[in-house]
Amino acid sequence: MTDTLHEAEVPRFPGARAERCPFDPPPDLQALQEGGPLARVRLWDDSTPWLVTTHAEQRALLADPRVSADVTRPGYPIQTPRSGGGSLSFILMDDPEHARLRRMVQGAFTVRRVESMRPAIQRIVDDLVDDLLAGPKPVDLVEAFALPVPSLVICELLGVPYADHDFFQDNSKTIIKRDVSPEERATAGGRLAAYLDGLVGEKLDRPGDDLLSKVAARVKDGELTRSEAAQMGVLLLIAGHETTANMIALGTLALLRHPGQFALLRDDDDPKLVAGAVEELLRYLNITHSGRRRVAKEDIEIAGQVIRAGEGMIMPNDIGNRDPAVFSDPDTLDLRRDARRHVAFGFGVHQCLGQPLARVELQVAYGTLYRRVPTLALAAGLDEIPFKHDGQVYGVYELPVTW
Ligand code: HEM
Repeated sequence: MTDTLHEAEVPRFPGARAERCPFDPPPDLQALQEGGPLARVRLWDDSTPWLVTTHAEQRALLADPRVSADVTRPGYPIQTPRSGGGSLSFILMDDPEHARLRRMVQGAFTVRRVESMRPAIQRIVDDLVDDLLAGPKPVDLVEAFALPVPSLVICELLGVPYADHDFFQDNSKTIIKRDVSPEERATAGGRLAAYLDGLVGEKLDRPGDDLLSKVAARVKDGELTRSEAAQMGVLLLIAGHETTANMIALGTLALLRHPGQFALLRDDDDPKLVAGAVEELLRYLNITHSGRRRVAKEDIEIAGQVIRAGEGMIMPNDIGNRDPAVFSDPDTLDLRRDARRHVAFGFGVHQCLGQPLARVELQVAYGTLYRRVPTLALAAGLDEIPFKHDGQVYGVYELPVTW
């Protein structure tokens, strides 16, 4: 998009969060939402895509087939300077190719399949809480609990050895950091792609009862290239652990800062309350805080404006989920509200494939940790907690807790 807009008129995106308000979107985003559904923002490369601020317009555009998620299209609002490092599979593709690839793995993430994993997830969480209680305190909850829960689950599901967790967690972290150099990101992407390629090779020779073996079988049948299979593995491995881990840690911090809300989960194990709490924490926290990114394939008229073909757009779910037209008193964390219309998992054809799994993991994690460790408390001041302002996925790097 050529930029003829005056520098001073167009706010930078992403902006900074307000000091001591780590759970709220940047105040300038909220101000833009008050100004109407569409605004322009300026990115790192000086492009000025549309910012879609309201819940209804975000959902309308995310569901619109004239809108493309293809990162290689001119006008796509890229998050950071990039250089290679892999395609991250179908998340950045359009139908029909996106649907073809997504269909190959979606059977593993249906509500029924994921519910059948609940007892195994409960065992993982119980074991980690046993270890936590038996170990020294204070402890970093990210290392001891938030990262291992989803990492163990996705390793089991994909057939990735958990022993390699330091390697894949470190490289995933680099890929989703905003402020690493393109070379560093490409190197981390290349390492993960090579690692997954090796695993696909092993599954071709000795298939197991796991999702990566099913993906490898498609390679054998000629439906997928080996590199497509490896990229799919990278996407599932990164998306499968980073997101949920950040929700567990940031969710715990938010609850510890809202003791009345923490008490609800500590004192009541009603599965409906726990499930509702997960939806509300997803709505309130919005860890995927870089916004859904898209580009118009055709002219699109919306909210009295025309988004021209080739113009980029960003749908930040953090302000979508704080839209007062949909959620009353949106800046209040209220575990008893009905938050199910949130857009924390996106919307439309790219809506999170792993959401049934994320929900069960979070229900089990929040529903177990606070009941078994009822005196859980922060072991550091808010000022000392390192937040992931520099990450495409928001959260905390460390969460020192005691009990
Ligand atoms: C709390 C945890 C999670 C959150 C907040 C989250 C959020 C999201 C969002 C917002 C999108 C949409 C991206 C877009 O429209 O551009 C997405 C897509 C996706 N997520 Fe998740 N996710 C979570 C957990 C998971 C898990 C556990 C998996 C399991 C592998 C997963 C796999 C995926 C995949 C494969 C896509 C791409 C879907 C597509 O393009 O069709 N996610 N996620």
